Amino acid sequence: MAEIRVLDLHKAFADFTAVKGSTFTVKDGEFFCLLGPSGCGKTTTLRMIAGLELPTSGQIFLGEEDVSFKRASARDIAFVFQMFALYPHMNVRRNIAFPLVSQGMLKSEIDRQVDQAARTLRIAELLDKPVSGLSAGDRQRVALGRAIVRQPLAFLMDEPLGALDSEFREVMCQELRALHDRLGATTVYVTHDQREAMAMADTIAIMNEGVIEQLGAPREVYERPASVFVADFIGAPSMNFLPFEAALASGASAVRIGAATIEVPALREDVSARPLLCGVRPEHVRFADSSALRAEVLGSEYLGTGRIVTLNVGGGVTLRAKVGVASMAQRGDHVGLAFDAEAVSLFDKVSGRALRTARDDRPHAGGAGHG
Ligand SMILES: Nc1ncnc2c1ncn2[C@@H]1O[C@H](COP(=O)(O)OP(=O)(O)OP(=O)(O)O)[C@@H](O)[C@H]1O
Ligand SMILES: [Mg+2]
Repeated sequence: MAEIRVLDLHKAFADFTAVKGSTFTVKDGEFFCLLGPSGCGKTTTLRMIAGLELPTSGQIFLGEEDVSFKRASARDIAFVFQMFALYPHMNVRRNIAFPLVSQGMLKSEIDRQVDQAARTLRIAELLDKPVSGLSAGDRQRVALGRAIVRQPLAFLMDEPLGALDSEFREVMCQELRALHDRLGATTVYVTHDQREAMAMADTIAIMNEGVIEQLGAPREVYERPASVFVADFIGAPSMNFLPFEAALASGASAVRIGAATIEVPALREDVSARPLLCGVRPEHVRFADSSALRAEVLGSEYLGTGRIVTLNVGGGVTLRAKVGVASMAQRGDHVGLAFDAEAVSLFDKVSGRALRTARDDRPHAGGAGHG
C-alpha cells in the first residue's frame, strides 16, 4: 500500500475549471472521502488519480513516484467504478480471477489468491455459483474481490453504493469499513452523501465548485466547520443560521438578534459593520421560558431518539431544535430559546468563512487545500 499526495491539482475542460487547486495527502492505509454535491469535481479528481484524465496542472504522487502524467495501466491502482460491472456469463471464481488471468498468473497461484479474497469477503461458499443469481450485496462483494486480488497500492471508489437502497447501503458502509480495516488498504472514496462519509472516513475532503473547502476527520468537520458551506452540508438536520448585522467589535461577547442578546465567545478579529451569521446545531438549541429570543412552534417531528421541532423566530428565519422525546412543544406554542455560548459558531456572511466555531477558542485557520 502507499500514500497518495495531490499537489495544487487543476483540471479545466475548455473554459470551465472543474478542479481548482486541490492539495491533500491520503496517508498509507487511510480511508479518505471526497465529499460534495453533484458537479463539484469529485469524479474528475478521482479520474486524475487513476490516470483516466490528465491534469491541466499540478502533481500526483503514488508513494515516492510522480505519476501525474503516467497512463492508467502504469499506475498500480484499482478503480472500483461501479460495483455491479461483473461478467454475467462467468461464475464468481472466474469473475474474481479475471485480472490475474489477464496477467498470465499460474493457475495454482490464482486459485490461492481467489480463495483468500473470497474468505476475506466471506463469500467462499459462492465461488462456483453464477453471478447472475446473486443478491446485490453479494455481487458487490464479488466486484470488490476482483479489485482485491490485484493487490493494488490503492483503491479508488466512485459512489459504489449509489445504486443501493438506504437500509442496505448502511450495512454495506459498515462492511466496506470493516474490509478496509482488515486489508489496511489506502482508499479514496467518492460520495455526495455526508452520512456515508461521516460513517466511514478517517479524513474527509469537502468540495464545493471545484474547491476543497475543508479537510478533516468527521468530528473535526462537524464541530469546527471552516465555512457556511461545510456547516450546512455536514449534519442532518443541518446547522441553523441566524443573520444579524449588529456591530460586533473585537473582544465583544454578545450579539443581538431582534430583541434578544446572544452570548458568544469573544472574537479576536474586528468584524464591526460586517454582516455575520450565527450558526447553531439543532442539538444545541434549548427551550428557555425567560429568554428574550422568542419563537413560534411550526411543527414537531418524532424521531424515536428525540424530536425535531421547527421554530419561526421572525424576520423570515426558521430554526430547528433537536429536543428530548418528552418535549411537549406543539404547533402554535410560543417559546423562548437559548444557546450555550460555546456551542455557537460565527461566520462572515459575505465570504462564508468561519470566524469561530463551536468548541473553539481560537479564530479558525480557514479552509485548507487551496489558494
Ligand atoms: N469531459 C468533460 N468535459 C466537460 N466538462 C466536464 C467533463 N467531465 C466533467 N465535466 C464537468 O466538470 C464538473 C465536475 O464534474 P464531476 O463529474 O467531477 O462532478 P462530481 O462531483 O463527480 O459530480 P456527481 O456527484 O454528479 O458525480 C461538472 O460540471 C461536469 O459537467
Ligand atoms: Mg461523480
